[in-house]
Amino acid sequence: MNLIVAADRNWGIGKNNGLLASLPTDMRYFREHTTGKVVVMGRKTLESMPGGKRLPKRVNYVLTANEDYVAEGCHIVHSEYELFDSLSRYRPDDVFLIGGGSLYRRFYRYCNRLYVTKIDAVLDADTFIPDFDADPDFEIISESDPVTENGLTYRFVVYQKTKEGLDRSRTLNF
Ligand SMILES: NC(=O)c1ccc[n+]([C@@H]2O[C@H](COP(=O)([O-])OP(=O)(O)OC[C@H]3O[C@@H](n4cnc5c(N)ncnc54)[C@H](OP(=O)(O)O)[C@@H]3O)[C@@H](O)[C@H]2O)c1
Repeated sequence: MNLIVAADRNWGIGKNNGLLASLPTDMRYFREHTTGKVVVMGRKTLESMPGGKRLPKRVNYVLTANEDYVAEGCHIVHSEYELFDSLSRYRPDDVFLIGGGSLYRRFYRYCNRLYVTKIDAVLDADTFIPDFDADPDFEIISESDPVTENGLTYRFVVYQKTKEGLDRSRTLNF
């Protein structure tokens, strides 16, 4: 499984159930990586999308504890077990964890690749993810040139799980 996220210098990712910034090139990067793939999100992230609607041209999985929850065109799953059981039918490389904070924090260790848009600023956030630079199970394998848009400079950074990290994740349970 992969993870894709945009985070500021403090690993802030959202505020008031919305994104921290509007970054068109980042949106395109997100679209290019996830189109045709399986995206996995928490119920709040789905509701934060325009119109609260699923992402087109992608298989959408939404995690909620609410058994009565419905969302047009989405696969709704109600537990971590049900989620991973459903995802086992896809190639892990085709699955992208797209948020929000609770899912990133809980599941990033199950991901082999982390696509992180690193915004070089401290923004006003209320939702955070762990500092991936401080996790020895991941290493940076690529970093783009900086992009500046709407007064913010950011880079596309890709982390990959190290061999030791892969060995350790075999013992992870959920
Ligand atoms: N910067 C980025 O790239 C990015 C990407 C995505 C989202 N975000 C931001 O992240 C914020 C939202 O994150 P969040 O942490 O508040 O919400 P979230 O992770 O999107 O959704 C949380 C909800 O997911 C469900 N859930 C989570 N774990 C579950 C489990 N183990 N079993 C069953 N259901 C589970 C629960 O839904 P129920 O309450 O219905 O049970 C929970 O309330 C927003 O500000 C959003 O804009 C940022």
